[in-house]
Amino acid sequence: MAAQPTIDTQRLDAVLGAFEPGDGSALIEALHDVQSEFKYLPEEALDRLADRLGVSKSRVYGVASFYEGFHLEPRGEHICTVCMGTACHVRGAPRLLEHLEREIGIASGQTSEDLTFTLEEVACVGACALGPLVIIDGKYHGNTTTSHLTKVVGKLKKD
Ligand code: FES
Repeated sequence: MAAQPTIDTQRLDAVLGAFEPGDGSALIEALHDVQSEFKYLPEEALDRLADRLGVSKSRVYGVASFYEGFHLEPRGEHICTVCMGTACHVRGAPRLLEHLEREIGIASGQTSEDLTFTLEEVACVGACALGPLVIIDGKYHGNTTTSHLTKVVGKLKKD
């Protein structure tokens, strides 16, 4: 698991400044905004968000951990998501996942120490005709192969 990096408080101030002090009804929207700024929900940001909106820290952490879309741990600059739904699974998704684990050097569900990559699995994303499917930084790589993934990941490593 990657350590929590220091966050840029000016960026955090800018995000939190958009919300009225004491407006607890904006909690989910504020969590979304913090996550889109930092790619995850840093502890310091959650504490300050609780103060800003006048909501208890336990409520903020409760909501943040309830929804799957929120991430409490740092995420990599590049997010590689392998679809492990049935259609992708039977077309070789496990082999692609193992390949990415070797290429990136982390296990599924982990983020690299240098915060370059996060590798994760997802259940069917509804694009089964494209299987096996890997999503890298939001781009769908359908009917993909290990050699294609090597190229894509290699390019990201160089950038
Ligand atoms: S199983 Fe992968 S998109 Fe449906």
